[in-house]
Amino acid sequence: MSIALSRRQFVAGGVASLGAGLIRPAWSQSTPAALPIPSIIDGTSGEPVELRIRTGTWSFRPGVRTPTLGINQDYLGPTIRTRRNSELNLRYENTLSEGVAIHGHGLHVPGEVDGGPQLEMAPGERWQPTLSIAQPAATCWYHSHTHGKTGQQVYRGLAGMIIIDDGNADSLELPRRYGVDDLPIIIQDRTFDARGRLVYSLTDAGEDGWFGETVVINGAVGPVAKVPAGKVRLRLLNGANARFYIVGFADNRTFHKIATDGGLLESPVPVTAMEMAPGERCEVVVDLSDGRPAGLLTLFEDEVDEAEEGIVNNLTKLLDISGAPPPRPSLTLIADRGLKAHTAPLPAMLATIDRPNENEIARTRDFMLTMEDGDDSGGQDAHTGHAAMDMMINGAVMDMNVINERVKRGRWERWRVRSNLGAHPFHVHGCSFLIEQMEGAAAPPDQRGWKDMVVLDDDDWSEFVVRFDHPATDQHPYMYHCHILEHEDRGMMGQFTVS
Ligand code: C2O
Ligand code: CU
Ligand code: CU
Repeated sequence: MSIALSRRQFVAGGVASLGAGLIRPAWSQSTPAALPIPSIIDGTSGEPVELRIRTGTWSFRPGVRTPTLGINQDYLGPTIRTRRNSELNLRYENTLSEGVAIHGHGLHVPGEVDGGPQLEMAPGERWQPTLSIAQPAATCWYHSHTHGKTGQQVYRGLAGMIIIDDGNADSLELPRRYGVDDLPIIIQDRTFDARGRLVYSLTDAGEDGWFGETVVINGAVGPVAKVPAGKVRLRLLNGANARFYIVGFADNRTFHKIATDGGLLESPVPVTAMEMAPGERCEVVVDLSDGRPAGLLTLFEDEVDEAEEGIVNNLTKLLDISGAPPPRPSLTLIADRGLKAHTAPLPAMLATIDRPNENEIARTRDFMLTMEDGDDSGGQDAHTGHAAMDMMINGAVMDMNVINERVKRGRWERWRVRSNLGAHPFHVHGCSFLIEQMEGAAAPPDQRGWKDMVVLDDDDWSEFVVRFDHPATDQHPYMYHCHILEHEDRGMMGQFTVS
């Protein structure tokens, strides 16, 4: 599927077929790796959280050593735990020989501590932001946001998870034992060369961005996790550079989505499969009390050609029609009856979400994401590579010296986004928003929570309402951008202030 295929066609289209590439080659190892669980740092203890950005060597598959980047570890970073109405002190140190900016994705913090590209740490430099956490419980993340190098640095490992807790979430009967029945799940795809090195090139990326061939979960290929035979919460993060996944389980079991990017949904939404765009998070609860293993599938949406109607809700149909052996799970959860299980029923109510009234919406802004063939005749063919394409928002390529929008603090606005070509995951810093329309249709129930990512397409507007409660100055503005990192690095990004 090229990016030009509209996602509405994808959801409601005709003949179903699966790209041959959907079936991954069998992995040659006999014993699957255990799911790596990043260590967790309690950011509420008052001690600053030390985060050392460094080079590393990591085995994505047993016996193969890959040069990587990481934060305090060889690949990815620790999970940082913080709490609403507390202060989070971070102490970054850049030990690399190149500049790095690290952004807290999903955090409602002022521009001066947001970690956008203006806040790049030179080699050897430190950065010590103090973040006042004033938002509901959520699964957020931190990752490289270095100007022009975000894709490459995230690909090599500069990303980690942030968990925000609050009193409401604490009061609910949800699985919450980190690494036991509450698992961080960072989904990415990577391509390796014959020597096991990561392969990445911004200029060789296709117009859809850089796709890896192999799915890795927390940096492991096809790992296994032993979990209690009860309810298990997965904090899913699509940490891929460009890949949209269809996520579900190999036996098509129903699971419950309980949270979107910015916090808990009002009530759990049952699903059997869902789409996850790059940068998106969600929390789901899957029930393993039947004792059967649960294989998590992360299908490549771009390799599912024109799928049958309702496919996003019917994984079995999707797998059946391929007529091919089922894809290998990216992660297998094995129920262990020896572990203490969380068996309480899911709460019927999770959170209250206050939506603005129409008369509170102070203004509307439109954002058009465009990909157009550039003039540099020496460039690549626009259909095979995007090096020659201009990636813009509202006709402008990202320029660190230009403020594209000025927003008033504390006022609701409606933002409308679409593209001239294909699907893009649009992200806004410094806020969570509420989606009203996705590609011209009302937001589905599992997207009616706080979000900081919305998928848009070329056939209709996606719309959300948003309010910014923290300042962002000309010197330290916020960003809005496409979260396909190769689009972002090529300029599909803008800057805005809040005052
Ligand atoms: Cu996840 Cu501006 O980034
Ligand atoms: Cu962000
Ligand atoms: Cu894009």
